[in-house]
Amino acid sequence: VTRAVTMGCGHYLPVRVVENAEFEATLDTSDQWIRERTGIERRHFAAEGELTSDLAIKAAFAALENAGLTGADIDGIVLATATPDETFPSTATKVQTAIGMTGGYAFDVQAVCAGFIYAMTTANALIVSGQAKTIMVIGAETFSRIMDWSDRATCVLFGDGAGAVILRAAEGDGTAADRGVLSTDLNSDGQFHDLLYVDGGPSSTGTAGVLRMEGREVFRHAVHKLAASGETALERAGLSAADVDWIVPHQANLRIIRKTAEKMGVGMDRVVVTVQDHGNTSAASIPLALSVAAASGQIARGDLLLMEAIGGGLAWGAATLRW
Ligand code: ACO
Repeated sequence: VTRAVTMGCGHYLPVRVVENAEFEATLDTSDQWIRERTGIERRHFAAEGELTSDLAIKAAFAALENAGLTGADIDGIVLATATPDETFPSTATKVQTAIGMTGGYAFDVQAVCAGFIYAMTTANALIVSGQAKTIMVIGAETFSRIMDWSDRATCVLFGDGAGAVILRAAEGDGTAADRGVLSTDLNSDGQFHDLLYVDGGPSSTGTAGVLRMEGREVFRHAVHKLAASGETALERAGLSAADVDWIVPHQANLRIIRKTAEKMGVGMDRVVVTVQDHGNTSAASIPLALSVAAASGQIARGDLLLMEAIGGGLAWGAATLRW
């Protein structure tokens, strides 16, 4: 069987680091509140004029270097973002030209914080169905552009960044011992729109809008939906939680990460956590965590990874990947 196998990964974080304490000057909040409720200690914010595509392009070059490939080796780019440079064209096409791809295709997918799971699922389907040999999957966001800076319940939670993973077709024997994407699971439920959305857009207000969230309600849905999707993805691959070397969760909130791992019966010593340094970077959070963990040697070739994410939509999902 054809598998989509990881060839390399990379990431980019904007230079500017904002510690929790910086918010104390303008908001009725504290470093202690943010740490205790979310696990976040700091986040990166893009510079003025630094676009989502700028972050994505830097992550893309880092992934190419890590994989020992060039842009000419890439057939397709699937880029997950909720903060594109422009309404159209896709941010992915900006990356396509920047890395020197002259053929193939590039497009964006929109599933907010679950975006990387959706993008990886799409890339896997394209590879398995023979429509590409090598695909770059990117998550890239500048959530600092859609914050209401007077809303302490949201603006302290998010950060900017990008991560990229290169997948290439390889033959496997069809067992869970194969390297590559082993299973995926996607879900959404539009009846929960009001829990997490941006209050603008081209066909509604004609403005970009800012993020609105009922944090407590999102939290209420997150743990059981993530655990259920994770279990479905494992089952589809013929695996169980005991087989998981690392959960690589969407990095929104340490309490959600802990409770989901606990519900699945996976100890925190088998969970990759970067939320303290990145905040919630939406679709970028999983590839950022993957890239950081791979670079440090935390994740090693052959490890079984379970990725899971939930965000606006609500949209959520999970995927298993043998690194
Ligand atoms: N500093 C100080 N106090 C604050 C802050 C802040 N930054 N933010 C909120 N508070 C206050 C609230 O006003 C409230 O005060 P009140 O009791 O007087 O009304 C109190 O703290 C408790 O607020 P809650 O919202 O109940 O706090 P909670 O413990 O639920 O934490 C949080 C809030 C961190 C938002 C949490 O609910 C959460 O992480 N939710 C999930 C977020 C998430 O995962 N989103 C999904 C992905 S994002 C995406 O898709 C784009």
